Amino acid sequence: MNVINKSKELSPFKFEIIAECTRTRARCGHFSTPHGLVYTPQFMPVGTTATVKGISPEQLSATKAQIVLANTFHLHLQPGEDIVARAGGLHHFMGWNGPILTDSGGFQVFSLGNINSINDSGVIFQSPRDGSKVELTPEKATRIQMALGADIAMAFDQCPPPSANEEAMRLACERTYLWLKRCISIHDNKNQALFGIVQGGCFLHLREKCVKEITELELHGNAIGGVSVGESVHEIHRIIRQVTPLLPKQKPRYLMGVGTLPEMNIAVANGIDLFDCVLPTRLGRHGTALVKGDRWNLRNARFREDYTILEEGCPCPACKYLSRAYLHHLVRSDELLGVTLLSLHNLTVLIRFTTAMAQAIRDGCFSEDFAPWKNDSPAAHTW
Ligand code: GUN
Ligand code: ZN
Repeated sequence: MNVINKSKELSPFKFEIIAECTRTRARCGHFSTPHGLVYTPQFMPVGTTATVKGISPEQLSATKAQIVLANTFHLHLQPGEDIVARAGGLHHFMGWNGPILTDSGGFQVFSLGNINSINDSGVIFQSPRDGSKVELTPEKATRIQMALGADIAMAFDQCPPPSANEEAMRLACERTYLWLKRCISIHDNKNQALFGIVQGGCFLHLREKCVKEITELELHGNAIGGVSVGESVHEIHRIIRQVTPLLPKQKPRYLMGVGTLPEMNIAVANGIDLFDCVLPTRLGRHGTALVKGDRWNLRNARFREDYTILEEGCPCPACKYLSRAYLHHLVRSDELLGVTLLSLHNLTVLIRFTTAMAQAIRDGCFSEDFAPWKNDSPAAHTW
């Protein structure tokens, strides 16, 4: 046996496909990491600053979350990766012993940072915390992620707005590829997987070129970035349908920043395995609950004397014994518990949805119009 094969065998990262859908490109399986398995398809709650807003690690476990996402950009600015490293790494620091993924900061620099300069070397921006100048480069983003010690690190990428013209998008793709190779060359943590990110906006030929380039680099997994950043739903669907099948089949595929049910459904039908999105917790903070494919604003007067359970059959803490009237009261009174309970409910819904899709793939009843909460759905037994 040669050395290369041996080192591959010892890798803690392994993606196994357990079942494939016969009618769509959907698959279910699991990805092993040093902190345990992630069953796929899977929704990853966003814990930007090493906390899923308003939710303790024990409560997070109760949502059946398997993996949490945290952010390089935020944690570098506060408290700083050295503090986290001295705490024993992100898992110890935040009290979450399951798998963690860190985003590279590439996306946040462009959406949150006041950018001073951007060139092939990296990005200089003003910190939204205190206005100080901060530089992020592919090397620095990778070093920060190694210090944080998550199970999966993301490459440092450039994500232009969808309004960028073709030439700007082409340059961003070239730069993202250049940066990816620099991330790889500095990344030397065998206990951390590194995923590459496909950019290219709505230009399919640029997406295709990106896919070809990152596929040759044999990463542990691949992500589609630059989706749901302001383009139309029609464009989002087109990108998902056209780009997903091009990614290597034997590696996990991660669609970044998408967490709406119809889009997750289409994405899984085209072969996506992982998702993340701030939506469930953001909606929770605004008093909104996801119920059977709809959004309910609990502030609404129609809930004032509705003493029924929020969603019958939902295994979340809110739906165990609390009424819509009580949640309405919490939201109207700006009580913190309202935010926590609605965030827990919404996370439970998305995680349950991805788990139900996995079950339906195994049972041969998955489809592109997956709505298992409907009584007449062939997949009703998965809900
Ligand atoms: N999160 C959502 N979209 C993106 C993206 O394009 N790049 C990165 N790094 N993170 C994201
Ligand atoms: Zn619930």
